Amino acid sequence: MANKSSMNDLFLHELRDIYHAEKQLTKALPKMARAASSDELKQAFQMHLEQTQGQIERLEQVFDQLDAAKRGTRCEAMEGLVEEAREIMEEGLSPELLDAALIAAAQKVEHYEIASYGTLHAFAEACGMNDVAKLLAETLQEEKDTDAKLNDLAISKVNKRAMESAQS
Ligand SMILES: [Fe+2]
Repeated sequence: MANKSSMNDLFLHELRDIYHAEKQLTKALPKMARAASSDELKQAFQMHLEQTQGQIERLEQVFDQLDAAKRGTRCEAMEGLVEEAREIMEEGLSPELLDAALIAAAQKVEHYEIASYGTLHAFAEACGMNDVAKLLAETLQEEKDTDAKLNDLAISKVNKRAMESAQS
């Protein structure tokens, strides 16, 4: 962390972190959608990919509003989360277990994003950047909705299928 002498600098650093994180996610989500066998899970990943592209556009609007260069800062946390998802896909799990494991990996990603956007939203409000705060709140809600949807899918279907498949 270099050159963060003000709240605005700290905000910009966090913004660049999540910008890089979202870009990594646009590469990981298609692979996760392909690896999933449940149609609903595939659709959830594909839908979140589209949403993520919209979230990147929102971040670019924020950069524009701040008159800052649209540039990411390497997000090692997302690199680690994406790497874990990649490892899961290479473990040779049964399709049912893989779906359960993919949801676990995706929810870890969502929780990272919820923490990041929650912080960014609070920083924007603290700095009096109301329009920026509004954009970030929209994305924060999408991340929360995605997390809830994945949670429902795991509890209502995917975990049960994984249990049944492991017993047969
Ligand atoms: Fe996102």
